[in-house]
Order: sequence, then C-alpha cells, then structure tokens
Amino acid sequence: MTRILQLSDTHIVDEGRLAYGVADTAALLEKAVAHLNAILPLIGPVDVLAVTGDLTDFGTPEAYRRFQALMAPLEIPYVALPGNHDDREAMRAAFASEPWMPESGPLNLAVAFDDILVLGLDTLVPGEPYGALSGETLDWLDAELNRHPDKPVLIAMHHPPFDIGIGHMDAQRLKTADILYERLASVPPHVTITCGHVHRFAVSQIRGLTVITVPSPSHAVALDMRADAPAALMMEPGGIVLHDVRGGSIVSQLIPIGPFEGPYAFDAAALEPVRV
Ligand SMILES: [Fe+2]
Repeated sequence: MTRILQLSDTHIVDEGRLAYGVADTAALLEKAVAHLNAILPLIGPVDVLAVTGDLTDFGTPEAYRRFQALMAPLEIPYVALPGNHDDREAMRAAFASEPWMPESGPLNLAVAFDDILVLGLDTLVPGEPYGALSGETLDWLDAELNRHPDKPVLIAMHHPPFDIGIGHMDAQRLKTADILYERLASVPPHVTITCGHVHRFAVSQIRGLTVITVPSPSHAVALDMRADAPAALMMEPGGIVLHDVRGGSIVSQLIPIGPFEGPYAFDAAALEPVRV
C-alpha cells in the first residue's frame, strides 16, 4: 500500500523575480506545500514525494536554496530528479547531504518498497530542452530491474517518452524513448512511467506501458494543439499527482491545488466545512 506523491516543474527563480515575468513560482510552491500538508491526514500515510525535474528555472545555487526552504515545511520526505531547466552539478551540490543524491554521474535514484520499485531517471542533456537517457543510465536501469525482478515498477523522469499533441513540447520530449521501451519490453512486472516537463496531466498507453505526465503547481503549457502553436504558458490551477499502489497496480490521481470549499456531506448532515 505504498503511496507516492509526484510534484513537478516548480521552476523556482532567484529572489525578487517572476518566472517568465508572470509566474510567482515561489508563492505557488508555498501554496502547494501547505495544501499537501493539509490533506495528508486524508490521503496518508504517504511514503515519499518525488520531484520530477525543473526544480529551478535557471539552475542557480540561490534557486536551489529557495526550493529547499520552500519545501522544508513539507511533512513527508522527498527525492528529486533534474529537468532541462536544472543544472546537474548545482543540484548535486545543493542536495549533497541527501542519501539519494549520487556523488557522481547521472542523478538516478532507486527506492525499493515492499510492493513497488521506484526508479528515478536523469534525462537532462545540458544546454538542450529535450531529454535523453545516457548509456550509463540505461545500464543502471537494467541493473536495478534485474535486482528487483518481481516488483511492479514506477519509473519517474522529467521528459515524457510520448507526444501529447503540443508541437513545441513534443519536439523536446525524450529522444531515446524507443531504446527505453526496448529495454523494458522484457520486464515481467507492470511498469508505469510518470513524467513532468509538459506542465499538463496526460495519460497514454505505449507498448503495453502506462505513461503519464503531471502538471506543475505553478504554470501550465498552454493547451494549443494547432500546428503553428506558439510556445506559451497559462496560469491554470496547479496540481500534484498521487500514485497509490493497490494489489500490484498503481492508481494515479490528480490533486488540484486549492483552497477549495468543503468537504460537504452528500446527505447534508452536520459535517463542518474544512478549507484546505
Ligand atoms: Fe518545466
């Protein structure tokens, strides 16, 4: 009954700045953390929160310090993977004291629970918006899958290995998707791949695998599916995703970040409204 929260694309910037001139990403992360803490008694216990990249907008040491300060009130432990906006070495330095942070090489991580194996893959290609899995990461993936041959697997990474229909984002998806799918073809347990990067919730099935992207707690990539769609963002409601392991399957739920009114009892009994 492992429960994993996924937070992605927080895009924290240095003090006094707004991401893209409009998004107060720090305030929105603060709001997301408060919302999570408020609902933990309703959805917990949650074992870990996985941050799937773009913790920061420009990968500066100050932005990582701000991210950590904003996440400090979170009442559950978290792990983090890099996205294309992150700086691998600045992120490694910022989280050097964390047991899940490798001392060298790709920022991959593995967390083995009784009922699921969580593998985080580093897809960052320095200086590029798209992602790719290095040979070192693919070999590491093979070794981890061989080490835990019987568990369902949740693979978390920043870049999605599928198109969601927004052209300028699909152009910067995971370039090595076919290699990843080939590596996973012989894996007997169920595999779910969950990503960030596109700042939207989307689900697909590719080669028998469930593949997911999750929203940001901050801004969304505008849902513009025209062929000539400009790269643009929308201040849509932010979200977080809960992955709940049930009977060997993963139930993934989108949690919009409030506050929202309620809960109100369907039978109109005297249930007090709670604001979260
Ligand atoms: Fe992002």
